[in-house]
Amino acid sequence: MISLKDIAFKYRAEEAYALDHISIPFNAGEWTSIIGHNGSGKSTLVKIIMGIVEEYEGEIYVDGELLTDENKQSLRRKFAIVFQNPDNQFVGATVEDDVAFGLENLGLERSEMIKRTEYALDLVNMLEFRSHEPHRLSGGQKQRVAIAGALAMQPEVLILDEATSMLDPAGRTEVLSILCRLHEQLDTTILYITHDLTEIERSDRVIVMNGGNIVGEGSVEEVYRDKELLEKSNLKVPYTAEISDALLDGSYMTHDELVMRL
Ligand SMILES: Nc1ncnc2c1ncn2[C@@H]1O[C@H](COP(=O)(O)OP(=O)(O)O)[C@@H](O)[C@H]1O
Ligand SMILES: [Mg+2]
Repeated sequence: MISLKDIAFKYRAEEAYALDHISIPFNAGEWTSIIGHNGSGKSTLVKIIMGIVEEYEGEIYVDGELLTDENKQSLRRKFAIVFQNPDNQFVGATVEDDVAFGLENLGLERSEMIKRTEYALDLVNMLEFRSHEPHRLSGGQKQRVAIAGALAMQPEVLILDEATSMLDPAGRTEVLSILCRLHEQLDTTILYITHDLTEIERSDRVIVMNGGNIVGEGSVEEVYRDKELLEKSNLKVPYTAEISDALLDGSYMTHDELVMRL
C-alpha cells in the first residue's frame, strides 16, 4: 500500500538524521504498529508520509506508484490521520458538523455528505451524539469523532499518531476496540504509532524504531519476547510478559490469555 525507499530527513543541517535512510513496506489490509520511545522518529515518519515535511531524501510509493509533485495531492487522499490531542482537532460546533467539515473540500453533493457523516459516526458508535458539542465529550469520545472525521474521507490508510496517549484507560480501550472492528470489518490498513507496548496486541506486524532507524520488526509475539531489543530501544517490557516470566513459563500471551492462565 505504501512503500518507503531509503527515506532520510534532518530538521537542521548540523543535526543528526531524524530519519536515517529507512526502507519499509506497509501492506494493504494490515494493522502495522510502529513503536519507539520519545524522539525515535515516529512522528517525523508520519509527517513525511502525510506531506507535512516535504524536503526528504528517498522515495515513497503508493500502490506501486512513485509519489511525485504532480500526483502527490491525489495519492495522499488515500491517507487520513488522527493526531494525539483530541482538543486540537475540532472545528465544528456540533459533532456532525465537525465530521462533515473535512468533506467540504471534496465537492460532494449535500446528500452524499450527510450519508458519509452518518456512516462514519455509526462506525465509531457516536451517531447518537451527532448534535452534541464536541468539547463537552469525554476524551475517548472525542478521539472516536476524530476517527469518524478521518473515515468519512473514505481513506485506504488510517494513520494514528499517539492517538490514545492523552486518554484515560477507558478512553484508550474505547478507541482500540473501534480500531479492531474497523480492521476486521472493513479491512482498513492501519498505521498505529505508539510508545506504549500494551497497545500493540491486536496488530499484525510491529516495527521498532530507535534513533531514526528501524531496529526491529516482527509479529507482536516476536517483539514482546525480544527483551534485549526492547531494552536497547528504551521500551518498557509489557506487564503481561513480566508476569508470564515470573509466574508461568514465559511464553507470549495477550492480556486476556494471561488472565485465563492465572
Ligand atoms: N520541529 C522539529 N524541529 C527540530 N527537531 C525536531 C522537530 N520535531 C522533531 N525533532 C527531532 O527529531 C527527532 C525525531 O522526533 P519525532 O519524529 O518527533 O520522534 P517521536 O515521534 O518518535 O517522538 C528528535 O530528535 C526530535 O527532537
Ligand atoms: Mg511523536
